[in-house]
Parts: sequence; structure tokens; C-alpha cells
Amino acid sequence: MKLAPSLLSANFARIGEEIAAVVDAGADYLHLDVMDGRFVPNITWGPKIIGDLRPLTKLPFDAHLMIVEPERYVEAFVAAGADIVTFHLEATPHAQRLLAHLRHLGVKAGIAVDPQTPISALVDIIEDCDLLLIMSVNPGFGGQSFLTRSLAKIREARALVADRNPRCEIEVDGGINARTLPLVAEAGADIAVMGSAVFDGLDPAGQLRALRASLAT
Ligand code: DX5
Ligand code: ZN
Repeated sequence: MKLAPSLLSANFARIGEEIAAVVDAGADYLHLDVMDGRFVPNITWGPKIIGDLRPLTKLPFDAHLMIVEPERYVEAFVAAGADIVTFHLEATPHAQRLLAHLRHLGVKAGIAVDPQTPISALVDIIEDCDLLLIMSVNPGFGGQSFLTRSLAKIREARALVADRNPRCEIEVDGGINARTLPLVAEAGADIAVMGSAVFDGLDPAGQLRALRASLAT
């Protein structure tokens, strides 16, 4: 299973050290949460920050856009160095067009769904996706509790991608910690995003290693 630390819970006053720690501990992707204060009630960063972080690591940048009208901004995030660009199904009326455009731009095309959006809403676009992000909390903040219903959604998504697009990766984001990570893995996720479980505390590298170890038991 791939582990993707989310920099949302990192300390940006020492972001170089924070990134180096999770790279050293074997992170697979760096998850970058972009929030606009409209799609979600919080604001983070845009392409400038992502471009500034880009030289710090070769790890794939997994940009999670929690913004309205994502079609207006995807090119800027690709230019800044994102390798995967994921936008929300709920944030645009033309998701298939934007997925195709992302692939045309040469990045992996990801679609995210909020807790209230059923997996069945993806039936007609799953073949256009390289990644499906299932939100296991309401997006906007780190440190929230995992919504248990997400486990059933992961299983439904696993069946859908097996049927229609086996190359599509399933990523889960929100409330994942040492207790819920094994459940998410068992349900069939390929990638687990973790913010507070990695960066809240004094030892992000040790915490990420411990989370990885929780999968082995
Ligand atoms: C929340 C973000 C998440 C966030 C998860 O909207 O999409 O990536 O960092 O944080 P935790 O792991 O603390 O739930
Ligand atoms: Zn996220």
C-alpha cells in the first residue's frame, strides 16, 4: 500500500525538514491540499507554494484541489509540478472533460468524492480516471474522525474499478491513523493519505514508519 503524507498538518516554518523526514521514512507521494475558502471553509495554498516545494523532493506531488471551478486552475498546478491532479466531482459540471484535459496535459487525472456522493455517480467516468479519491471525512480540515461508511464505499469502488478500469488507483483521505489504516487497506484502498497522524507530534519519520508497521500485523 502507498502512503501519502498530507502537508496540511506540517509546520511550514520548517517545511524542508518536514518533507525530508517523510521522504526518509519511505513516503510514496506527497499530498498537497489546495483549499479556496469557497468549496471548503478553509484556505491553504496555491501554485506558487507548490512550485517552491517542487525542488525539495523527487516524490510524486499529489495535488488535491478543494476549489470551485477547478478547470480554471489545473494548468497552473501542472506547471507548478503536480504529478497527479485531483478535483472534486461536486465542484464542476463537466468532470469528464476535465479528466480528459488533465491526461492531455500529461499528468494523472484524479476525481474526488465527498462523503455524501455515492460511488455509483462515477460509473460513467471511471474509465477516464487514473485515481479515485474517496473522502472519509468532510473536506476542509485535518484531524477529523474517520467516517465508517467509507469502508463500504472503498469496497464498492474496488468492484467498480475491477470491472471498468483496473489501472485506476483508489486513494482514501481523512481520519486515517494506526487504528483505521489497516481497515482502509483491508477494504481495498491503494493509497492512504495521512495528515495529523504523521505530522502532529515530534517525530514525523517515526510516526510514518509506525503507521507502515501497523499494516504488517
Ligand atoms: C482534508 C484533507 C486531508 C487532510 C487529512 O480535507 O483533504 O488531506 O490533510 O488530514 P487527517 O489525516 O488529519 O484527517
Ligand atoms: Zn486531501
